[in-house]
Amino acid sequence: MKRETNWHERYMTGDIPWDTGRYDFNLSKIVTRRPIQPCKTLEVGCGTGSNAIWLSRQGFSVTAVDVSEIAVQRAIKKSSKARLACNFFVANFMKQKISSAPFGFVFDRGCFHSFDSPKERSKYVKIVNSYLKRRGLWLTLVGSADEPPRNPGPPQRTARDITTAVEPYFNILSLYASHFDSNMQKPPKAWVCLMQKRK
Ligand SMILES: C[S@@+](CC[C@H](N)C(=O)[O-])C[C@H]1O[C@@H](n2cnc3c(N)ncnc32)[C@H](O)[C@@H]1O
Repeated sequence: MKRETNWHERYMTGDIPWDTGRYDFNLSKIVTRRPIQPCKTLEVGCGTGSNAIWLSRQGFSVTAVDVSEIAVQRAIKKSSKARLACNFFVANFMKQKISSAPFGFVFDRGCFHSFDSPKERSKYVKIVNSYLKRRGLWLTLVGSADEPPRNPGPPQRTARDITTAVEPYFNILSLYASHFDSNMQKPPKAWVCLMQKRK
């Protein structure tokens, strides 16, 4: 099955265990503690928009994309209900150009980690890098391989999978073990990786 169709199917059938209906505490913790100042922001693989909406509430100017039309439709509905002006649209991040670059901050929760091959992850990193302004920040939340595989559960990556892909382009500001915000009794483990574009 084509990958895009697969994501669409999952939203259609409700097979979306990652979608808690709220923003992830790992995002709010990094944004408020570092702090990351409100700026022009891109969320990649935004799903139904909870994180983009939170960022928008904090004063970030958010563009958010997802390959699934149904996810984006839900995100638009949620943000208009909240009377927030996020710019949601359907796009395949690996193939289509996002026109409003450069961004000061890029966020993704579970999109970077969804690519199985090192080649695809490296391509994803290069694209993120190309959309960031000089010294711009990227925060990614990635399923961790430091627990047995779970079903349902996120793709699992090692810290080395992350560093191998990102270090050619980014300085790693922090990389630590956490867990996803989740409605599961035992939330899946996650890596929280904050990076800064080198040049
Ligand atoms: C694990 S889900 C996480 C969704 C959302 N970030 C959340 O936390 O609720 C991964 C998301 O990435 C999207 N995605 C996967 N590949 C993509 C691509 N190439 N371009 C844009 N979105 C993509 C999927 O449609 C899906 O919504």
